[in-house]
Amino acid sequence: MKKTSELIWQDKQHQVLFELIDQIKTAEVDESVFRRLYDYAENHFTVEEEYMKQLNYPSLAQHIQAHNRFRDELDDMMEAHPHYDSHFRQALAEFLSNWLTSHIYGIDKKLEAFILKSTYK
Ligand SMILES: [Fe+2]
Ligand SMILES: [Fe+2]
Repeated sequence: MKKTSELIWQDKQHQVLFELIDQIKTAEVDESVFRRLYDYAENHFTVEEEYMKQLNYPSLAQHIQAHNRFRDELDDMMEAHPHYDSHFRQALAEFLSNWLTSHIYGIDKKLEAFILKSTYK
């Protein structure tokens, strides 16, 4: 079977989320991890959205809507939990893991395939 090529920048960026989830689960976590999560999400979404715009991606609106839902839900979670206790860290890790399964292995994979077919990588 022919090995399918992968979009390196997107894979690498998604890998960062795995690392952040591991750090969030750790009891001795430095609170700066939450700021890094915010910055990471914003940077990553901006890159994907820029590619979709450049390529006139057919599902652009739907994909941006999904990113915006994540942005809103993350804001809500952070605001509802001013103290980053273990309960919060558990809930946040779960939310992010669900995002990995539903978004990254879902519509992000479709976007990847679309970008790989284009000349703009
Ligand atoms: Fe995405
Ligand atoms: Fe993504």
